[in-house]
Amino acid sequence: MRRLQTQLQTEGIAMMNIRVQQGQIQKQRGSALVVNLFQGARPAGATKAVDEALGGLIGEAIESGDFTGKKNELLLLYPGKSRRGFAVRRVLVVGLGKQAEFGVEVARQAAGTAARRLQELGVEDAFTVLHGSGAGGLEVETAAQALAEASILACYRFDQYRSGKVERTALKTLAVVELDAGRLAALRRGLRQGAEIARATCLARDLGNQPGNVATPSYLAGVARRIARRHALRCQIIDERGMKKLGMGALLGVAQGSAQAPRFIVLEHNRKAGGRPLVFVGKGVTFDSGGISLKPGDKMEDMKFDMSGAAAVLGAMQAVASLKVPRYIVGLVAATENLPDGRAFKPGDILRTISGKTIEIVNTDAEGRLILADALGYARRLKPAAVIDLATLTGACVVARGAHASGMFTNSEDLATKVRQAGEATSERVWPLPLWEEHREQIRSDYADMKNSGGRPAGASTGAALLAEFAADYPWVHLDIAGTAWTSQTRPYITKGSVGLGVRLLVHLARTWKK
Ligand code: BES
Ligand code: MN
Ligand code: ZN
Repeated sequence: MRRLQTQLQTEGIAMMNIRVQQGQIQKQRGSALVVNLFQGARPAGATKAVDEALGGLIGEAIESGDFTGKKNELLLLYPGKSRRGFAVRRVLVVGLGKQAEFGVEVARQAAGTAARRLQELGVEDAFTVLHGSGAGGLEVETAAQALAEASILACYRFDQYRSGKVERTALKTLAVVELDAGRLAALRRGLRQGAEIARATCLARDLGNQPGNVATPSYLAGVARRIARRHALRCQIIDERGMKKLGMGALLGVAQGSAQAPRFIVLEHNRKAGGRPLVFVGKGVTFDSGGISLKPGDKMEDMKFDMSGAAAVLGAMQAVASLKVPRYIVGLVAATENLPDGRAFKPGDILRTISGKTIEIVNTDAEGRLILADALGYARRLKPAAVIDLATLTGACVVARGAHASGMFTNSEDLATKVRQAGEATSERVWPLPLWEEHREQIRSDYADMKNSGGRPAGASTGAALLAEFAADYPWVHLDIAGTAWTSQTRPYITKGSVGLGVRLLVHLARTWKK
């Protein structure tokens, strides 16, 4: 146990170094080089220059029909020593799909696919072109951010608890080759931003992947403190005494059955910018057993991911701080376990929240909305411009949206539009679910102001309806990330396990926010 704890203080990220190399791509010397190809197209630009230097090897693969440039298709070539003047050992061509269907997400996937393949091959340093800024039509900064983000995210691994034979070689350096001096500044800027955002996303992934016996509420508080120290954020950790003073009876109620003490985390970025803050709220249930309303055993281990909302908020706060986003942003995390015990809260109990409203417990497994009720009530004191909460709130949302989109609920169409756009831009898609008076009626209680579950029908909406009771005084969006926060499927720049979902969306929203 002791050893486990110390190991965990490491972030588990061997950061890839991404740099800019001015020059001609075909003149580089090294172990690997990445270029690209649109589907059905002839090599152009940098790809053409490399093809010519290779005496038409790429063209040959296209003519033979072996390589067509389909999205994420790879062609790996070994030029050999005989080709004079060409000094790179491997050439990797990645398909960009049809030019008409190209966009920043295709660029991300291409970069991720290529980087992951190189890492699998054991390549430690490589050159690449910037995907999509030529015929693809992306702005240099956008394309550079996408490249850095996806390359780092694709190479992410969480293997700190595996002893014995583990693949340890990493793609350590990626040099983006650019000839045009006029594009270098934007290129550098984009790469730096992408790297910071990817680093923050990897932090969120690490927090999600950490087992519940390590990533406890106090562990999350420790991580928040460390982020604050490194990036000059204000950090306040509220313990049980503080929660009692504030009247956070719902968070305390959920925490009652656990030997691990709950924590409420407040991280503030750039308060001096003034104005009303943008507030991010995360559900941080570090393990959700269901409590007295115990969950079935199948897949219960996945409930270590029930703090994914909190992980997204912590990652996003690190990113906005490191990118020095010029506005006032606050991150709130309600962190606790949900366990059964002789002291645990139980069905029939009534809890009083920070805002004075009472909630009758009918199912201790509907715990996320309880701790968020106190967090959203706390947010009100900050006089927020807007509040976005992220929570692995309901199994019902997994049924409704699968892994394809997070469920979105709101009391402000204007804010919802902004969040939806941030979701599109980052490919962390969100899609609305309804929030109506009828859902509110489903959680009416005979004994308290509301009850914490409306049963199975419209389960995602009734969860949101409870939250809405505490978010009535400001523009608010609730994202149910139960289906999107972790995955069993590896995708071009997403690895199995924690996705780190929400960091990129929140950071995009913060960076593009207009009062
Ligand atoms: N953390 C779960 C929701 C969840 C379940 C997320 C499966 C991802 C996968 C949440 O605390 C929960 O247990 N919700 C209950 C609510 C019900 C008791 C009203 C649910 O969805 O079953
Ligand atoms: Mn639960
Ligand atoms: Zn939960």
